[in-house]
Amino acid sequence: GVDGSERLHKQRLLVVANRLPVSAVRKGEDSWQLEMSVGGLVSALLGVKEFDARWIGWAGVNVPDEIGQKALTTALAEKRCIPVFLDEDIVHQYYNGYCNNMLWPLFHYLGLPQEDRLATTRSFQSQFDAYKKANQMFADVVNKHYKEGDVVWCHDYHLMFLPKCLKEYNSKMKVGWFLHTPFPSSEIHRMLPSRSELLRSVLAADLVGFHTYDYARHFVSACTRILGLEGTPEGVEDQGKLTRVAAFPIGIDSERFIRALELPQVQDHIKELKERFAGRKVMLGVDRLDMIKGIPQKILAFEEFLEENPEWRDKVVLLQIAVPTRTDVPEYVALVTSLRDGMNLVSYEFVACQASKKGVLILSEFAGAAQSLGAGAILVNPWNISEVASSIGYALNMPADEREKRHNHNFRHVTTHTSQEWAATFVSELNDTIVEAQLRTRQ
Ligand code: G6P
Repeated sequence: GVDGSERLHKQRLLVVANRLPVSAVRKGEDSWQLEMSVGGLVSALLGVKEFDARWIGWAGVNVPDEIGQKALTTALAEKRCIPVFLDEDIVHQYYNGYCNNMLWPLFHYLGLPQEDRLATTRSFQSQFDAYKKANQMFADVVNKHYKEGDVVWCHDYHLMFLPKCLKEYNSKMKVGWFLHTPFPSSEIHRMLPSRSELLRSVLAADLVGFHTYDYARHFVSACTRILGLEGTPEGVEDQGKLTRVAAFPIGIDSERFIRALELPQVQDHIKELKERFAGRKVMLGVDRLDMIKGIPQKILAFEEFLEENPEWRDKVVLLQIAVPTRTDVPEYVALVTSLRDGMNLVSYEFVACQASKKGVLILSEFAGAAQSLGAGAILVNPWNISEVASSIGYALNMPADEREKRHNHNFRHVTTHTSQEWAATFVSELNDTIVEAQLRTRQ
């Protein structure tokens, strides 16, 4: 816990993300139960402790009545969270529609919706209108809670319109925006009907961040090719105004995982799993159930491996789970076959838990993490099923000294490039940007 006096000296930070780190479940007219949300963004943001932070976001439920809204606001305040209430229709059009049916697949190179093409094209405009309306609602809440000197950090593809809305309220507000998914090649981004408007809204921010240099480069190319603006080593320039663009590879709170390994209930669980899988190697897949994670390709590769290596049939098991709860299985190979993935923090969580077992990581080259954990992991192209199958064999037969060498490399990376460091770097860089209003006064 952080007490009041400590908070006084910390930078005030408003973190704005579509999903709050806690999700609400209604228990009665005015009572709520809060549960931790899942996903890479939440997993990283929970590790951010250097700031006097408040979280602004959607609690994941529809709360049409005032009594419910009041009670939920009070319950969330204890977690330093501030809710944005979105009605069902907005959620449907903005969250299910524009965010997760348009932007998410496009940014992961799966294209725009193909089926029912006409219907999609017709509803596109109303989905985009709902997206902008929802972003404006987030901006209203931010503006209500903003105090001079605050830094506002907007997150992810749900809120690309937010920097513009915030600057319209107050051009002096320090606004950063960070994308947790890949930013695709400009040739992919240009397919989006609202491509220019979205780019311009993001450029209203003072600092724009991505997981990797490639994503940052793609974004700058989209701005130069689609908007005709000038790309510089610092970012993107529009009529003398610079929007700083850079890569800030995210990390995890590795200590939290290392400490969790010592907990008696975790140790008991490990023991249970050891007994259950005695005599067999365990390969582990931990993914949110999502089309980008390449789970069918993973199962096909495992099948091919078993067909070609019958001697392994009774000696290896593939355990595929959907939420990161059982990352402590000993003696295993983790298998991450994402077709595209912003970073993939599950691979980091795996490495953090392998200090004693030195488990091997097989990692998709299309995950951002391939650029940071590539030297220690076995990198695969998940579309090449035979390559994944032979990598499984390679990992299972890997000698102990090679496993140790690979693990040590990745462990060093994961424990030094943490989420705390990520957030501190982003916010300090955001503090260093000169906002447009200040520039004008100087001139
Ligand atoms: C990814 C996104 C996050 C999102 C998470 C879970 O990690 O980058 O912004 O919160 O998935 O998805 P959900 O739609 O449940 O919030």
